[in-house]
Amino acid sequence: MSTKKRTAILISGRGSNMKSLVEASRGADYPAEIVLVASNRPDAAGIGWAEKQGLRTAVIDHKLFPSREAFETNLQSALEEHGVELIALAGFMRLMTPGFVERWRDRMINIHPSLLPSFKGLDTHARAIEAGVKITGCTVHFVRAEMDEGPIIAQAAVRVLPGDDPETLAARVLQTEHRVYPAALRLVAAGQAQSKDQKVTINQHSGETDTLFSPAI
Ligand code: GAR
Repeated sequence: MSTKKRTAILISGRGSNMKSLVEASRGADYPAEIVLVASNRPDAAGIGWAEKQGLRTAVIDHKLFPSREAFETNLQSALEEHGVELIALAGFMRLMTPGFVERWRDRMINIHPSLLPSFKGLDTHARAIEAGVKITGCTVHFVRAEMDEGPIIAQAAVRVLPGDDPETLAARVLQTEHRVYPAALRLVAAGQAQSKDQKVTINQHSGETDTLFSPAI
């Protein structure tokens, strides 16, 4: 019997983070296996890719349900059908109800393209540039009921360069998302990231100390 954590990835669009998780999960020693890719949007490009990979997929179009609860009941059935133990939100652009979030407490993670708690919500890169921050990045966190809130598992920092626009900055941050998300899912699936009192303790931390300067000095 495999001891890998049975993981579902939820997407709403392109799915580049999903791809990075799927690719990482192919490693023999990776502690999570992707047993389901689900989308709330029938036109999500990532679903086609997942199907081509031979992954199990589900499209649960939220527009067909009268309420969030009804949508989530359907989603929950799909998760149970596939024996899902962990959920990774990857560009899943729909708020979950507190009931659903509580049911998956510490078993549902999300990636957001900023150094939380800064710049929650949409248009993160435009707002980071507008605010003049010199370093931004991305965050993987356990999901809580409030949008883009929850104990932080991992972050990666990216310099904001002179002349950056939201697109150039998004592209560089996305590259780090593709590295940090598989690493964070590995920690969670291996039981090495525990959340307690709103904070996550990482076991087996390398102990490396590093400082990122921006501009580089
Ligand atoms: C990613 O940048 C992800 O961090 C962001 O949406 C993008 C999805 O891209 N998520 C959020 O903003 C969640 N609040 P992808 O579909 O190529 O992974």
